[in-house]
Parts: sequence; structure tokens; C-alpha cells
Amino acid sequence: MTARRLCASLLLVAAALAGCGADSHMAPFVPDTTNAAPADTVPLRVYGDAGGRFVGAATGTALTMPGDSGAQLRAILVRQFSMLWTGTFMKFDYLRPSRSVYNYTQADSVVAFAQRNRMVVRGHTLVWHQQVPAWVLNGNYPPDTLRAILEEHIENVVGHFKGKLAAWDVVNEAMGDDGNLRSTVWSAIGPDYIEQAFRWARAVDPAVPLYYNDYDIETVNAKSDAVYGLLSDLKTRGVPIDGIGFQFHYTAQAAPSADAIAANFARFAALGLKIQITEADMHVAVQNGFASAADLQVQARAYRDMVNGCLRTPNCNAIEIEGIYDGQAWVSDPTQWGAPVLYDTRMRPKPAYYAVQAALAAR
Ligand code: XIL
Repeated sequence: MTARRLCASLLLVAAALAGCGADSHMAPFVPDTTNAAPADTVPLRVYGDAGGRFVGAATGTALTMPGDSGAQLRAILVRQFSMLWTGTFMKFDYLRPSRSVYNYTQADSVVAFAQRNRMVVRGHTLVWHQQVPAWVLNGNYPPDTLRAILEEHIENVVGHFKGKLAAWDVVNEAMGDDGNLRSTVWSAIGPDYIEQAFRWARAVDPAVPLYYNDYDIETVNAKSDAVYGLLSDLKTRGVPIDGIGFQFHYTAQAAPSADAIAANFARFAALGLKIQITEADMHVAVQNGFASAADLQVQARAYRDMVNGCLRTPNCNAIEIEGIYDGQAWVSDPTQWGAPVLYDTRMRPKPAYYAVQAALAAR
């Protein structure tokens, strides 16, 4: 046994022991320490392919990062993942510096990168209350003009990427945390703006699957009940919606069990919707950029449960992570939390990586 592997094994044993504490509702996550091969001998995307599921990651700036770090990040991305999303480059403010200008350069290069590497791309997102440009927010447009602005946006953007995407998040986070529709710049259009967005998108590209995407709806709760009501109404009335995206932003300690996830997913699947995990991250406390070994085990279990929730749901066809490595991943409150994804700041696979790999392999 090499010194490096011995250290790794000792760390894993220590971490497994640390995971045997009071938290009894989840069995401790014990990585397979008998496997002497490097963690990525069988990439995640290979297991995902075998089960008919995409495994994805947000690119961040991985495609343009210079030097060895950039090369290493792209190597991980291409080797491990079969799906990606641009994070920012398809959002309204990025694509539309003004009403007449469409800036597709970065998004196009992400799509081209994906095509070169046999990956698919999720389009994110057409209608959202954040990352809306000032010219829309401060335009004081009457409802009809705002409607025309949104319709022309959807027509142009969906048309531009027609035939190139595996999904569109047509509407993102329209439900408020209180279970009532959020009041946003777009709601000024009128209560039908959500269904119209789906209809406009379908009219331009009849083939691309159209998703509603949101957070804090992963288990049965007041907000997911409200989203269930919204989507069930859309389905009943023949609005062209194909799926629902669950963002999965959690602190690892508070992440849901596979049972709770699967129970919630089942009711959305029963509406005939496809299901995707779209922006997963499991935050843990960090000090000087690092998480404790015990917390990394809690995080690994959280990821394992998330993957198992998807695997128990035949309609769940994608598991996508909010970033590739901890050095570049979105964190809701970076003053308290961090280290949310599968590779650490030095681009080494974490216990969470092994947990996802093991869960996918055991399908
Ligand atoms: C984040 C992006 O990852 C960041 O790059 C950006 O600066 C802010 O938005 N919910 C969403 C995502 O639907 O689009 C958000 O992404 C995170 C929360």
C-alpha cells in the first residue's frame, strides 16, 4: 500500500467512525476502501448512461479558465459528465444587454463544447425574476409591451438553440416560498404569463422538452404542494409542459432522505412529467476553505440519498450538480457555507463523489 493510499484509507476510516454518532436515521456512509483504483476509473457518466440518466454539472468558467487548472477542470467535465448547463450565459441579462441586442457568443461556445464531447446541454432559463436586465426592470412598460418583450425573447432564444438542447427551464422559481405565486416583473403581464411562456416556447421548438424549475420543493411540503397544484392545472388544460426540475440546494445536515424525495417525485411523475435534478449542491460548514471529515461524510450521505431518490423514480432522467469543483460553485451564503460539490478546491474527488458513484453503480 502506498503512503498516499494508506493516508486516504485512514482518513476514510476516521471519517466513517465520525459518522457513527447521534445521527441515527441515516446509516453512516462507508466508501469502498477495498477498491485500489483511482476514484474516477469508471466515470459517473458511464454509470449514468447504463441507467438511462444524464449526470451533469454547471460549467462556470471552466471552458475559458487558462493554464493547468483549466485543462484539469475540462478533463474532469468531459470525462465525468454527460450533461452541462451554462450557469449564467443563457440568462436574460446576459443574453440581452438591450432590447435589440442578443449576445449568444458564450452560450454558443458552451453548446459547441458539449457537442464536441458527446454531452447534452440544459437551457437555463427563459423566465426568472432574477438576472433580469435594468432596461426591463426600469422600463415602466405597459403590460402588453412587457408581454411582447417576453414573447420575442422566448421566440428568439428558443429559435436560436432549436434542436441543440436537451431541456429548457422555461419558468424558474415562479412560486413564492409561502406557496403563493411570486410577484415579479413578469407577473405584471397578467396571470397567464407562465402558461404563455410554455406555449411560446413549444411553438418555436416542438421537440425540446420544456421544464418548470424551482427550489425547496424536493419533498412534500407547502411549497411543493403549491407547485404540484400549479403544474397539475397546466397539465389538465393542455399547456405544453414536459417536466419539472428540482434544484436541490441544501445544507448537507438538512438534506432529505431518499424515501422523502421518492415520495414527492412519484406524485409529479404521476402527472406525466419527466423529472430532473438540476442544480444540486450540499453545503457544509467550512473553515479556511475546508470542511471537516465528519461533515464530508454527512455530505456524502446527502448526495447518496439524492441519487437514490432519483434512481427510485423511473421518470427521473438527470442528476445535475451546481458546479464541478468547490473552487467554483455557487453558494447561497458563502460566509457560513461552502464546499458544496463533488470535487474539492484542489480538484480531488470527495467522499460525495464516491457516494454518487457507488449509488449509480448499485442501481
Ligand atoms: C446562480 C449562478 O450559478 C451564478 O453563476 C449566478 O451568479 C447566480 O445564479 N437558482 C438558479 C440558478 O436557478 O440559476 C442560480 O445560479 C442559483 C439559484
